[in-house]
Amino acid sequence: MELIRSVRSMQEAALTVKRSARRIALVPTMGALHEGHVALIRAAQNRGAAVVVSIYVNPAQFAPHEDFKQYPRDLDGDLAVCRREGVDVVFAPTDEEMYATDASTWVTESLIAKRLEGERRPHFFRGVCTVVSKLFLICQPDVAVFGQKDYQQWKVIQRMVRDLNFPVEIIAVPTVREPDGLACSSRNRYLDPLERAQATVLYKALLVARDLFNQGEFNAHRLASAMIRAIELAPSARLDYAEVADGETLMPRSEVRRGDVALVAAYIGKTRLIDNLVL
Ligand code: PAJ
Repeated sequence: MELIRSVRSMQEAALTVKRSARRIALVPTMGALHEGHVALIRAAQNRGAAVVVSIYVNPAQFAPHEDFKQYPRDLDGDLAVCRREGVDVVFAPTDEEMYATDASTWVTESLIAKRLEGERRPHFFRGVCTVVSKLFLICQPDVAVFGQKDYQQWKVIQRMVRDLNFPVEIIAVPTVREPDGLACSSRNRYLDPLERAQATVLYKALLVARDLFNQGEFNAHRLASAMIRAIELAPSARLDYAEVADGETLMPRSEVRRGDVALVAAYIGKTRLIDNLVL
């Protein structure tokens, strides 16, 4: 496995792979790798491509008050995971490599990115779209793999790739969960044992919505109310949002249809978690 730290070396390595007529599959991550990331790596390998995992905690997608500084960083642990999984290249650039101090060009998606996460975290999707565009230009992937865990991010990236004609196929991998249903996340490391136990309310709330939907409840407002009640059962939980939205555009729904998506965000103690389930 090769560890590459500079943009230039990565671009050269990508060209070398391309010249050998091998395809490249990119798995963009911020590191602190867990079973969710591993599922993405395996999906990339199933494409028979050379697998590049990028590990970069992207400052552009954090607001000043957010957890950029505390975000878990464990390059040695991550490299061990990648080696064990048979990854071909890890691209782990420094901030100086990725952003000029006076960088002034940004990529924004202006419909799907406006709502939900985008409303609460105004710079978030601009940071994500910009860094993912840069990673596409640096790593030259034919295929890039994203998790449905970050449903809105997946849909924003799909739209960006369509609108800007990136020659990259986007693959989405279903959310990997702990045995009790909590979606794997690097931020789960912030939870103390009591909070960890209560963090399952996000998924439980989504299951309540799915059960009601399957029983014939199509009213989005009533489904959202049921999710809110379920989240409020956990004393450590503070609701951010619970909503059912159009599965493609993330626009709010009044009458829910199959393929729409239930999304929740809540603080468990100080840790903000998100989850979703397609109905
Ligand atoms: P990060 O949170 O590290 O996630 C990297 C990828 O792993 C994303 O596509 C995310 O959806 C996926 N993922 C995370 N948890 C998962 C789970 N439990 N099951 C399945 N997939 C999961 O998302 C980012 O980093 C960044 O925004 C990034 C796209 C790398 C841009 O900086």
